[in-house]
Amino acid sequence: MAKRVGIINGGGDCPGLNTVIDAIVDILHPEYEIIGFYKGFEGLLYKQSMVIDPDYASRYKFQGGTFLKTVNKGHFSAKVGQGETKQIDEEILNTSMRHYHEMELDGIINLGGDGSMSAAFQLMQKGARIIGVPKSIDNDLQQTDFTFGFQTAVEIATDALDKLSTTAFSHDRVMILEVMGRNAGWIALYSGIAGGADAIIIPEITFDWNILTDHFIRRREKGHTSGLVVVAEGAKANDGRVITKHIGDNTSEELLGGIGEQIELTLNQHPDIDARSTTLGHIQRGGSPCGYDRLLSTMLGTHAAKLFRSGQTGRMVTYKDGKVDDCYILDAISNIKRIPLDHSLVTMSKEKGICFGDHEVKVV
Ligand code: F6P
Repeated sequence: MAKRVGIINGGGDCPGLNTVIDAIVDILHPEYEIIGFYKGFEGLLYKQSMVIDPDYASRYKFQGGTFLKTVNKGHFSAKVGQGETKQIDEEILNTSMRHYHEMELDGIINLGGDGSMSAAFQLMQKGARIIGVPKSIDNDLQQTDFTFGFQTAVEIATDALDKLSTTAFSHDRVMILEVMGRNAGWIALYSGIAGGADAIIIPEITFDWNILTDHFIRRREKGHTSGLVVVAEGAKANDGRVITKHIGDNTSEELLGGIGEQIELTLNQHPDIDARSTTLGHIQRGGSPCGYDRLLSTMLGTHAAKLFRSGQTGRMVTYKDGKVDDCYILDAISNIKRIPLDHSLVTMSKEKGICFGDHEVKVV
């Protein structure tokens, strides 16, 4: 009888999930029967799964989202409130482990971000064999330079900035684009540079409302009648506020959003500035993976499958310095990967005159 591997994808979806699944199937089939669990770990808890055959996986491989569906709330929310790690209920873990044994799984390959990886780690402590693949449009997992889904989100945000820049120019306006990025501003930083933003506001750098407004006044004085701001949803002003739409509870994280509008309101208080904001939202998580993410997802999925076949456990696949490798899962989830304040892209941006709202930069 073939051995059995479970595939689980939990947390927010992102482009590339189906590509990773397809790569795993290509490597492990037919030596293993591949069981896909629906809606993350809930599928293991309720024994809701499907057998994935290679033809089925290949049909979906470049489609966005996940054919296994997913949830980022519920029994396995291991990050709640403001991102604190939560111990999952003992009974939930025990029932899931009972199903794991009843289904005679040889282990699970978990496609997840910080939250789902933390949930997987708790199951591992109960005896499950786990191999992780780092997923997140936010790119906030430690030990890996990139998570799959991130580059696609950057492409989408860059395209949005390109579109906003033409209307900004026509109307002599400052256009603000709010992008995702709960704790880390990687999408804002990368797309901001790629899309020609004049200000990049990220959670890692507390910004000052006056410095940001002054930047656009000084730009105007130099003859720049339009401008672009990209802001991550989790950005914090020096009054300490993070703008939320919905407070998280014991089963979900808080829903962020609204900082772009706040910046619009603040900039519009100045008589010489006309500002408008756009929130990009879930468009960043939708659609097909870009070429880079198709490649990265294929490499990560292939490596995960090979690690699994070699009998390893507790490892998460990584992509560092241009090479696929792996690390201990715990090392990836002990901290969020935030942008270091001395990151070369931040330094370069400031030298070029991009304002981060923390201090005045030159305007050319
Ligand atoms: O974690 C990825 C992420 O895209 C965050 O940037 C964002 O805050 C969150 O998911 C949104 O989740 P939801 O799908 O619940 O709105």
